[in-house]
Amino acid sequence: MRQLDALRADAGVLLSLLRGMPRNATHEQALQAFYAPQAAHYDAFRERLLQGRRELLQSLDLPHGARVVELGGGTGRNLDFLSDAQWERIARIQLVDLCPALIERAQIRSKTRPQLEVIQADATCWRPQGLVDCVYFSYALTMIPNWLAALDNALAMLKPGGLLGSVDFYVSEAAPAPGLRRHGAVTRWFWPRWFGHDGVHPHPSHLPLLRTRMPQHVLVEADAAVPYLPGMRVPYYRFLGRKPIRD
Ligand SMILES: C[S@@+](CC[C@H](N)C(=O)[O-])C[C@H]1O[C@@H](n2cnc3c(N)ncnc32)[C@H](O)[C@@H]1O
Repeated sequence: MRQLDALRADAGVLLSLLRGMPRNATHEQALQAFYAPQAAHYDAFRERLLQGRRELLQSLDLPHGARVVELGGGTGRNLDFLSDAQWERIARIQLVDLCPALIERAQIRSKTRPQLEVIQADATCWRPQGLVDCVYFSYALTMIPNWLAALDNALAMLKPGGLLGSVDFYVSEAAPAPGLRRHGAVTRWFWPRWFGHDGVHPHPSHLPLLRTRMPQHVLVEADAAVPYLPGMRVPYYRFLGRKPIRD
C-alpha cells in the first residue's frame, strides 16, 4: 500500500517534469507553476536525484556563532543534513528562495529550528545585514537564469576567508583545465537539453568560474543515477571554496 502511494506521488512529480517550466511568465511565476503541484513530494523524489548534498553540508567547517545562508534553498531539506554539532555552532541560518510553494514547506521546518529564518527573495540581489561565514547553493545555480549575478552576490555577502559551497549538475568544457574531467560530446549535448525543459541548465562555465573565484577549494566530480532512466548517469560536482582574503 505504502509502495503504491509512493508510486502515485512519483507519477505526479514525473507529470510536472514532463510538462516542464512555463515559458511565457516571470521567473517567479514559472517556478511557482512548476513546483506548486509537486511541492509535497519534492523531498522524496529529489532524495534519489540530487546527490552529494549530505556530503557538502557535512563538510561545512563552521565557526562558533556562525551565520549561514542557503541561496535557492527550496523546502529546506538540506538543513536536515547538518549534524547536531554543526547546529550547535550556528547562530543564524537564512534560507532564501523565490518560489512560494517551496518556501511554504521550509516554513514548517523553521518551527523546530529557532535559528532558521525563511525568506522569499531573489538570490541574485537579496543581501543579509552584515557579512556571513558561509553561503551555499545546492542544485540552485543551474536554476537561476542570472547565475553569474547570484554567484557575485554570494561572494559579496561572505566574509573574507568565509566558505562558499555549491553542489550541482554540470557538463565539462570541451577542453577542461588539466586535472578536471572531460565529458564526451554526447554528454555535453544531452544533459543541458534534457534538463533545460525543466528550467535546469547544467553549464560548462559554472565550475571553471567557481575555481577561478576561489583558488583555495576542494572539488569532487562524480555522476549519479537518474530515477526511472535505467543505465543513465548525470554528472554533478561538489565544490567547497574559501573567499580569498584579498581580491
Ligand atoms: C532544484 S531546486 C533545489 C532546492 C534545494 N536547494 C535542494 O537542494 O533541494 C532549485 C531552487 O532554486 C530556486 N530558485 C531558482 N531561481 C531562484 C532565484 N532567482 N532566487 C532564489 N531562488 C531561486 C527554486 O525556487 C528552487 O527552490
